[in-house]
Amino acid sequence: MSKTLEEALGAALKRAEAGAPQKLAHALQYAVFPGGARVRPRLCLAVAQACGDSAPELSVASAAALELLHCASLVHDDLPCFDNAAVRRGKPSVHRAFGEPVALLAGDAMIVLAFELLGRAGATNPSRLPALTVTLAQAVGSPFGIVAGQAWEAEASVPIDTYHQTKTGSLFTAATMMGALAAGEDPLPWRTMGEKLGAAYQVADDLLDCVATVAEAGKPTRRDVALDRPNAVSRLGVEGAVSRLERLVGEAVESVPECPGRQGLRNLVMQIADRLVPESLRAA
Ligand code: IPE
Ligand code: IPE
Ligand code: MG
Ligand code: MG
Repeated sequence: MSKTLEEALGAALKRAEAGAPQKLAHALQYAVFPGGARVRPRLCLAVAQACGDSAPELSVASAAALELLHCASLVHDDLPCFDNAAVRRGKPSVHRAFGEPVALLAGDAMIVLAFELLGRAGATNPSRLPALTVTLAQAVGSPFGIVAGQAWEAEASVPIDTYHQTKTGSLFTAATMMGALAAGEDPLPWRTMGEKLGAAYQVADDLLDCVATVAEAGKPTRRDVALDRPNAVSRLGVEGAVSRLERLVGEAVESVPECPGRQGLRNLVMQIADRLVPESLRAA
């Protein structure tokens, strides 16, 4: 039987931790468990299932690799040289708990581990591995991925849609496309769904940053203004950002390609979207 997502993450970490320096090993566990919403891997697995999931080992490995890269991006994003955030997922951020050098290295280790994990699983279905690897690398590298997204913050003028797509949308696009690729299907029809949901996710995160309490967000809030980050609320206002979020969610739902599992996937998108609106805005 193929592993579940949590088992695949646990097994990969166990390999990285065995014989490693203790602080690094503990920091890796701390960064991945307990997880957050696991949205990207859930999306990847749901698309793979809708496409027939003919290689479950590969879809679970793809999902786990995406989550490792996401966790790595959070560890690096919280560092003093980026957002200087003391709290993540309701607990001290990794550099606050283990120090900056170990946090930097834990992020690096997770990035490398994501590709190792995918490479190992790819041995069961080698013909699907190259496209999976390239798609994953593009989502985190430059010019389309998280590296470029974070680097936009060092520029004087930032196109907000490009910034959001590269820092956040890229992993969502990779999630839907890798779900299809792992199942041996054409990934292109799945791109728009990932793009729209990823864009919605970052608009929602910008709203959360502006209106949520720290307890609700599980991370520092009001950081976008403090750090002068381009964000949907400063560009559109709260109401404008909420309308944009609603429009993007509608487009994400509409863009689920024709397939036997279409209704289930549309329901998943709506379920993910439902969690995106901060409590305080729901009541309003
Ligand atoms: C946080 O992502 C970073 C953004 C791209 C907004 P998530 O909200 O998915 O983080 P976790 O994994 O659930 O903590
Ligand atoms: C989200 O960046 C994307 C990443 C590369 C982590 P943010 O800085 O907006 O995310 P949060 O609000 O810290 O989770
Ligand atoms: Mg950031
Ligand atoms: Mg941040």
